[in-house]
Amino acid sequence: MPTLKFAVLPGDYIGPEVMTEALRVLEHVAKSAGHSLDYKIADVGGAGIDNHGKALPDSTLALCREADAILFGSVGGPKWEKLPPAEQPERAALLPLRKAFSLFANIRPGLLYKDLVDASPLKPARIPNGIDIVCIRELTGGIYFGQPKTTITLENGERQACDTMVYKTSEIERIAETAAVTARARGKRVCSVDKANVLETSVLWRKTVTDYFAKKHPDIALTHMYVDNAAMQLARDPNQFDVLFTENMFGDILSDEMAVICGSLGMMSSASLGTGVNSHGKPFGLYEPAGGTAPDIAGKGVANPCAQVLSAALMLRYSFGLADLAAKIEAAVRKTVTQDGVRTGDIAFGRPSVGTKAMADAIIANLN
Ligand code: NAD
Ligand code: IPM
Ligand code: MN
Repeated sequence: MPTLKFAVLPGDYIGPEVMTEALRVLEHVAKSAGHSLDYKIADVGGAGIDNHGKALPDSTLALCREADAILFGSVGGPKWEKLPPAEQPERAALLPLRKAFSLFANIRPGLLYKDLVDASPLKPARIPNGIDIVCIRELTGGIYFGQPKTTITLENGERQACDTMVYKTSEIERIAETAAVTARARGKRVCSVDKANVLETSVLWRKTVTDYFAKKHPDIALTHMYVDNAAMQLARDPNQFDVLFTENMFGDILSDEMAVICGSLGMMSSASLGTGVNSHGKPFGLYEPAGGTAPDIAGKGVANPCAQVLSAALMLRYSFGLADLAAKIEAAVRKTVTQDGVRTGDIAFGRPSVGTKAMADAIIANLN
């Protein structure tokens, strides 16, 4: 039986709280299947700054390089917000980590179980069967990384800041491939979201995606939508989408919207993949909740662990080829929050709620 070797980077605020529970779930599911876990925990983000003077300590990066996957919590928060922007956890740890491993393909499932419809802010009549869509977000390009990225003082003393949105055809084509492959395994429909009525990068995005699908995936139904309309359409009728495919910043924003219409940010997992292959011959990936460190609820033991647990399931599926174990975790999460009605406050809405640990206990009980 294989050993699953991964780096564990819990990060800040609720990061360690939900990570503890995801590791317990992983231990149980691995043990039941005869796999052994070989993971080391390392500081990242604010924890890296506090304990090593650096958001992405060299030792943490080295640990990631030795591993077959990274299970990531989340980083950042008020404690480090007064640092120079480029030294803050998000920009000095998470973005460099994504870049270091060329993790350009971010997969965020937007899944609302039928029996959890009451946790969505959308009217049940609009989503009678829940929601099942997926966001494919480009993760290592666009305005997050484009140069120049500067703040200067003008001659009149006024300050001026600049971010630059840049995309190359090769960057667009490789993420278009991810969107097409994802759609092929689902409803065979891709909606590419851009702002081609204004942005040069979007004009190139739309043309490149159109040409790429025509040449490589003519059987996948490709449509295009402007991002402002997409934000509205998501709230109006989310199931009109199958694969929602977009660039880095639009994907960041739309995926938070997807998360809440699917119940809560605390439910949305993500996988970030690149071209790297691990020692199992599978994609090297970073797996993290789509949401952040939730400082407003940290330290209270009430954070929803599902996004972290489901991210661990994605790690088993993509980086270790253990789709059966991933499905086992996903089924246990689903049963816990729907049939058993064991819910943390973010998805309870008037029903009794439980804490982080109790939710994980219930998931573990449902693994068998
Ligand atoms: P956030 O995602 O941390 O929180 C937004 C809201 O969602 C909060 O009300 C929070 O309580 C709730 N929420 C998020 N996860 C939850 C969970 N698991 N269970 C229950 N409720 C949950 O966004 P924010 O407040 O804008 O950001 C806080 C910090 O997190 C910032 O420093 C931000 O940069 C950082 N952040 C990090 C990541 C990451 O590391 N991947 C992602 C997003 C934000
Ligand atoms: C996310 C987060 C990150 C992003 C931040 C923390 C850098 O919001 O993963 O969605 O914008 O990519
Ligand atoms: Mn985000």
